[in-house]
Amino acid sequence: MKREQFSSSLGFVLAAAGSAVGIGNLVAFPVMASKNGGAAFLIMYAFFVFFICLPVMLAEMSLGRHTRQNPLGAYTEIGQNRAWRTVGWMSVITPFMIGVFYLVITVWIFGYLGKSVMGQLNELAGPDSFGNFINSNELFVYMAIVVGLTFFILQGGVKQGIEKAARVLMPMLFVMLIALVVYVFTLDNAMLGIKFFLIPEFDKLTGKVLNGALAQAFFSLSLAMGILITYGSYIQKNNNIVHAGKMVAGLSVLVACCSGLLILPAVFSFNPDIQLSTLSESSISMIFTFLPKIFLAMQADIGYFGASFIAGFFFLLVFFAALTSLVSIIEVPVCSLMDQKGVSRRTALFSLGAAMIALAVICALSFGRVDVFSNLLSYGGLNKSFFDLVYDIFYETILPLNGFLLCLFVIYRWKKHNLDAEISQGNATFAGSLLQKYVNFSLGTFIPLILAVIFINTVSTIFFGNNLLF
Ligand code: PHE
Repeated sequence: MKREQFSSSLGFVLAAAGSAVGIGNLVAFPVMASKNGGAAFLIMYAFFVFFICLPVMLAEMSLGRHTRQNPLGAYTEIGQNRAWRTVGWMSVITPFMIGVFYLVITVWIFGYLGKSVMGQLNELAGPDSFGNFINSNELFVYMAIVVGLTFFILQGGVKQGIEKAARVLMPMLFVMLIALVVYVFTLDNAMLGIKFFLIPEFDKLTGKVLNGALAQAFFSLSLAMGILITYGSYIQKNNNIVHAGKMVAGLSVLVACCSGLLILPAVFSFNPDIQLSTLSESSISMIFTFLPKIFLAMQADIGYFGASFIAGFFFLLVFFAALTSLVSIIEVPVCSLMDQKGVSRRTALFSLGAAMIALAVICALSFGRVDVFSNLLSYGGLNKSFFDLVYDIFYETILPLNGFLLCLFVIYRWKKHNLDAEISQGNATFAGSLLQKYVNFSLGTFIPLILAVIFINTVSTIFFGNNLLF
């Protein structure tokens, strides 16, 4: 069967940007930036995106387009041995498991969307609402709808499913984001938030902050999850990979930046004297505990209906971003199963979907509802739930390891000249350019080195409670 393709470079860019733009850009980034030096953080983040993440991105896209395979197939075909095949397996299992916890978070967002629309903003802003919601039966109704929507998109295939969804949802997302930024700019004290975000404080950039910024950039561009290898395998040969990669990276930074301009003015208009250092570190508490309070407070100006409308609008925006990311991550195991076993898309979706739902339900029950799942293990001096375990192993630990192995694979196994030849198709100026030299050099030296250091430090910190670096 002929492999499906995106209809154009723009189709790929929108789908890949759909994958990249997610909860990370919209919520995690503004929270991190506001606590860690504002524009100074933004500058470092953008630097990491273009100088460290972009080469990895180009490598993944080229590997996919060259082999026309899912990650397992690509590692097997070029690796030609068992060790690389194992790495291929890791590149398929990792997105599957990250997909499980991302599904749970997407369901929470969808639930908050549903509740805002149904006039329950009051309740959402209450002190225990988040804890109650994630342990409610209602959650499973929302989960069924999110799973249904994701399946519906993926069932359509590359062009009629993934690309079409991105073509509809991404422009809507951009327009909604801009509309919300314009709205929060009109609020009292918005200027304080904008100033806070745009004035750089370079002394806040400690080693720990830089490590966080890099990890955030890496996650946010969907690297080392096999996504860009898989989407890369659907790119046409005459499309310009470098150009597409720069567009995706640029859009992701732009959305992160706009999101800072949305969240910080809202926070400051709510409380102009707020001490950001007292805000919780986690983006989860920002989005599910703090923001509903801010939206509810807007009722003083625009009434309860208006406040609910803004809340619903915001959660819809985040939901679109999360949905396109979820689609991209589930496509990796789906495509792998189709390629490797020759099954239909529908069969792949149903079998993987069933396994994924079972695991997501276990995750959802691990916030206190079922004790074995909630207190599954203890390591690094902390009690961990099933959800924590999935997050720690696959997101925190294996992601940098996969990135490290990918760099070595592309440069030392597949070889530089093959990478260059693939990128050069559709890009006449790449060969001999400064970019080519930089990509070759960085992927073979300091990028894998940095990823290896992050990996070792993460293992030591999470599993042994001993941070080696800071
Ligand atoms: N880029 C996404 C984000 O910022 C991360 C992600 C992509 C997560 C794909 C899961 C799947 O939230």
